[in-house]
Amino acid sequence: MPATVIVGAQWGDEGKGKIVDLLAQDSDLVCRYQGGPNAGHTIIVDGETFKIRQIPSGVLRGKTCVIGAGCVVDPEVLLVEFDELESRGMSTEDVHVSGEAHLIMPWHVAIDRASERRLGKLQIGTTRRGIGPCYADKAARLGIRVQDLLDPKILRQKIEVALAEKNVWLERVYGVPPLELEALAEQLESLAKRLRPYVSDTSLLVDRALREGRNVLLEGAQGTLLDLDHGTYPFVTSSSTVAANAATSIGIGPNRIDRVVGVAKAYVTRVGEGPFPTEIDDADQERVRKLGAEFGTVTGRERRCGWLDLVALRYAVRLNGITSLALTKLDVLSHFEELPVCVAYRLRDGTETQDFPAHQSDFHHCRPIYESLAGWNVPLTNGLPDAARKYVEFVEEALGVEISLVGTGAERERVVALR
Ligand code: GDP
Ligand code: IMO
Ligand code: MG
Repeated sequence: MPATVIVGAQWGDEGKGKIVDLLAQDSDLVCRYQGGPNAGHTIIVDGETFKIRQIPSGVLRGKTCVIGAGCVVDPEVLLVEFDELESRGMSTEDVHVSGEAHLIMPWHVAIDRASERRLGKLQIGTTRRGIGPCYADKAARLGIRVQDLLDPKILRQKIEVALAEKNVWLERVYGVPPLELEALAEQLESLAKRLRPYVSDTSLLVDRALREGRNVLLEGAQGTLLDLDHGTYPFVTSSSTVAANAATSIGIGPNRIDRVVGVAKAYVTRVGEGPFPTEIDDADQERVRKLGAEFGTVTGRERRCGWLDLVALRYAVRLNGITSLALTKLDVLSHFEELPVCVAYRLRDGTETQDFPAHQSDFHHCRPIYESLAGWNVPLTNGLPDAARKYVEFVEEALGVEISLVGTGAERERVVALR
């Protein structure tokens, strides 16, 4: 099975890192295809917690790791990640960063923060890591790319040109202090020195691996409903998170992908603002948050918690071409007598639909229609009790997709393979 995509099927934080870590055992290459340090993937190995931001989760298995062209890279954050992994005995020698990926510069972070502040109540609730401003500059063809790190003269020149414009924005539009060219150029050059050995032609590298019949994992960040085109715009991230973009962003043909594994929680969480039909409106929200330890990896923010939404999940299956699902954190639901599952939405005009509304206002105003499934009230330490199995089968039947893996705990080995 040459190329497999692992994609988040909800609003991010589905447990992709843990599933990638599991599947990486049988893979040779693990490649991140979009996003940047807005991602936070937690993997627990022998009681030790690793929080990974930009490096593919396969790094913990010592696999060849690729940061693809569609990613945005914060050089400073990346070096901190390298240092942290190295200090904990993991090698980062086999990490390759696409020269085509874009760099998150200090002005991107400053603009992300200032812009959210300015939006006030209308803010998106970004991770404030400069993601949106960096992708915007990429599209505007003003970006600085990883390959620009290779030549000190080019790097300085590009910083100078960009900064002349960005400082006007920072001072005049956002009323924040400008950045100083000399200090910035010096700082970037010192980061560049360390990053140069990692820069490579990753499209070629992945293509060669596929030709040699090696197994390649393409790891997504964020989730389907945060996709720039198909997510809950404008409350989305600034990249295309869906599976098809894995080919574009890595630089391989779409026909190289033959498996798409969707990762979904057995319930739903969302960080930041935006509509969320199945958000729990009673004390159970706090219970789910506590039991699931639902606090952001990157920002530490409380994650909003909701019951499983099969309408949204069916949409994710359609958009990504999901061939099998990993259902994570089923253990968190072990403490509930009854489990509401959203099977359809009631729209403003009173009609019922199982299809995700294409129009934002329909989605904003829809009401979830629940079916209640029986809880199991026992821990999942010895496999799945009948009621837990029924919960899984109910989801499979509603979506028409098999669930191949079930998460039963945060630790690396807490996964049940159903097939
Ligand atoms: P990602 O961004 O999709 O990789 O997900 P995160 O790592 O941000 O969030 C998932 C959280 O759930 C992490 O803290 C994981 O350690 C944890 N986790 C993953 N799978 C399971 C599971 O099956 N059960 C429990 N209880 N926790 C899990
Ligand atoms: P992983 O890979 C959950 C959310 C932010 C905000 C919106 C836009 O760990 O699943 P951005 O900083 O990207 O411009 O923020 O997207 N968001 C995430 N939510 N998991 C993530 O990544 C996220 N990355 C961004 O909270 O609502
Ligand atoms: Mg996360």
